[in-house]
Amino acid sequence: MIHDFDRPVARIAGTGHATGTRILTNADLEKMVETSDEWITTRTGIKERRIVENGVVTSDLCVDACQQALDEAGVSPHEIDYIVLGTVTGDMKFPSTATIIQSKLKAYNATTFDVSAACSGWVYGIEIADSLIRAGRADKILVIGAEILSSMTNYNDRKTCVLFGDGAGAALLVRSNDDRGFLSTYTGSNGDLAHLLICEGGGSYKPGKNRDIPSEDFTIYMNGNEVFRHAVRIMDHAALTALEKARLSPEDVDMFIPHQANIRIIEAMKKRLKFPDEKVFVNIQKYGNTSSASIPTALDEAKNQGRVKEGDVILVAAFGGGFTWASAAFRL
Ligand code: ACO
Repeated sequence: MIHDFDRPVARIAGTGHATGTRILTNADLEKMVETSDEWITTRTGIKERRIVENGVVTSDLCVDACQQALDEAGVSPHEIDYIVLGTVTGDMKFPSTATIIQSKLKAYNATTFDVSAACSGWVYGIEIADSLIRAGRADKILVIGAEILSSMTNYNDRKTCVLFGDGAGAALLVRSNDDRGFLSTYTGSNGDLAHLLICEGGGSYKPGKNRDIPSEDFTIYMNGNEVFRHAVRIMDHAALTALEKARLSPEDVDMFIPHQANIRIIEAMKKRLKFPDEKVFVNIQKYGNTSSASIPTALDEAKNQGRVKEGDVILVAAFGGGFTWASAAFRL
């Protein structure tokens, strides 16, 4: 569905992020699988990732990130109308992790649910939250992207284990009363390509209770080459569509925040969209790919570092398993 927004209705009033506290470096991975700092750095741009300590669950990271977003906005948990969490590594099969976050935050007036869209989960949540506020159904919505990917990473598979990290990023969306806010959102998916990036185990297809299923089926499988090829093309398309729907051109953008999956994907997009270095935010070197947490974490860091400020036009674009993709343009 194509729709241009004449006036923003929802804006971001606060952000926050949290990561695992254990740093897993390329040197650490050299001791675990046959790889090298040189290979990982040149192929992915990643130097280290943050991994949670045993016992820390996805909702713990979310609560930390949400509390920061609420504090920045001066909003208390009981004012929240919805909690929307993009994740594929929730605390449990059910209830939804958003419900667990509600309980931990004591946000008892909120409706809560998780969105399963892999790396695009946070931007999918943004489209849903923006639509709810636009429709007059809500005033204040927490949108979170969070993953503990270490819980489904196979640390014997060098093709995937060097890529992923743990983290959470949150944004509080509120009704806007000025020209700040979401100018466009765009989402899409293509289930025909699901087999290229998948975790098959743990659902009704390969249930966890069936002991005959090999343990690798409960971890991430990725055909890296094929995913890479599609990621560049689709993220480009998503970024350009969000701009077109907002009637903006790349020159109008103050900061582009792409999903942090691979530095080479980011570099390719930078070139094709003709963004100078200073207009593209990159933190993949520190965190690796944290899936749905990557864009809200980067946004929060960009704010904290003074790389973006109130009134700036921000473009975000994500791509992930499914395949799914999503983008948004907004005035901060
Ligand atoms: N260390 C050393 N060698 C390695 C490693 C490693 N960690 N991993 C793979 N290799 C080897 C391969 O075995 C292969 O060796 P061979 O030629 O002897 O068989 C060689 O390196 C080249 O492998 P490729 O897979 O072709 O490497 P490529 O340059 O494609 O890089 C990578 C792999 C980094 C995974 C890349 O394909 C990529 O980033 N893909 C996209 C990932 C992505 O965007 N995911 C997005 C969504 S993620 C999500 O939704 C959760």
